[in-house]
Amino acid sequence: MRLENKIALVTAAASGMGRAGVIRFAAEGAKIVAVDIDQKALDSVVKEITQAGHEAIGLCADLSDDQECTRIITQAVAQFGGIDLLWNHVGHPGFSKVEDIEPENYAITMDLNIRSVFMTTGAAIPQMRARGGGSILFTSSIAGLIGSPFSPLYSAAKWGVNGFMASLAGRLAVDNIRVNSVCPGVIDTPMMKTFMARPDQETDGEANLAMMKSMIPLQRVGRPEEVANTALFLLSDEASYITGVALPIDGGFVSK
Ligand SMILES: NC(=O)c1ccc[n+]([C@@H]2O[C@H](COP(=O)([O-])OP(=O)(O)OC[C@H]3O[C@@H](n4cnc5c(N)ncnc54)[C@H](O)[C@@H]3O)[C@@H](O)[C@H]2O)c1
Repeated sequence: MRLENKIALVTAAASGMGRAGVIRFAAEGAKIVAVDIDQKALDSVVKEITQAGHEAIGLCADLSDDQECTRIITQAVAQFGGIDLLWNHVGHPGFSKVEDIEPENYAITMDLNIRSVFMTTGAAIPQMRARGGGSILFTSSIAGLIGSPFSPLYSAAKWGVNGFMASLAGRLAVDNIRVNSVCPGVIDTPMMKTFMARPDQETDGEANLAMMKSMIPLQRVGRPEEVANTALFLLSDEASYITGVALPIDGGFVSK
């Protein structure tokens, strides 16, 4: 098994790619700490993992709150004795507007995409050092690799995530902690629908999805499991010589 005896914490784990990730990591031998704001969906994924004979706990937390971002690390350590793998998957689709954006819309986009990830990682680093190493993964986006005209604020946040990742990769190598990002393209989850039809966007969601699909060389949207497979590889010891990488999982979108 590829994650045998590893303790893995995943945020935004009750839906989409995070859900696919915790199910996959558990099947590969990891003890799972699944974190999400949605208690019901969290209960469902934890039940699925434990019924399959694997170990998992769910922690309900609003990760726009700094204290919650650190509490989840403390609770994971109290439950399982440490933390080896951290996938900071939580994020926010952001808004389209630049002119006249509401301050609270700016705040929630930056809080969930950057601030929360910074806080959770800061709490996890000493725990990983204490165990002699670890692996940290961030979820950026193709919008963190190229400028997205639809998502200026989201792009700014996800470029920030990749900047944070690259900085930490250099800083934490001495501690045997590897740090990488996944950069999903258009992936079929509830958030994908929000991306295509944001409340402050004037264009039509269906038309936006069709336009995005036409720009993907593999000619389809991605599945959450395809991102989970990549996350598994980057978090596992199979990627032992990989750190500081922002890897697109996008059907070729950014290659053109
Ligand atoms: N789906 C895509 O096309 C796509 C593309 C690129 C990047 N991403 C990134 O992937 C990540 C999640 O996307 P997904 O598509 O798997 O999403 P999803 O919509 O399937 O799931 C998001 C999860 O986040 C949880 N959540 C929302 N607010 C929270 C909060 N304040 N605290 C804790 N949990 C909260 C929700 O309850 C939900 O379970 C984000 O970082 C997003 O920016 C998504």
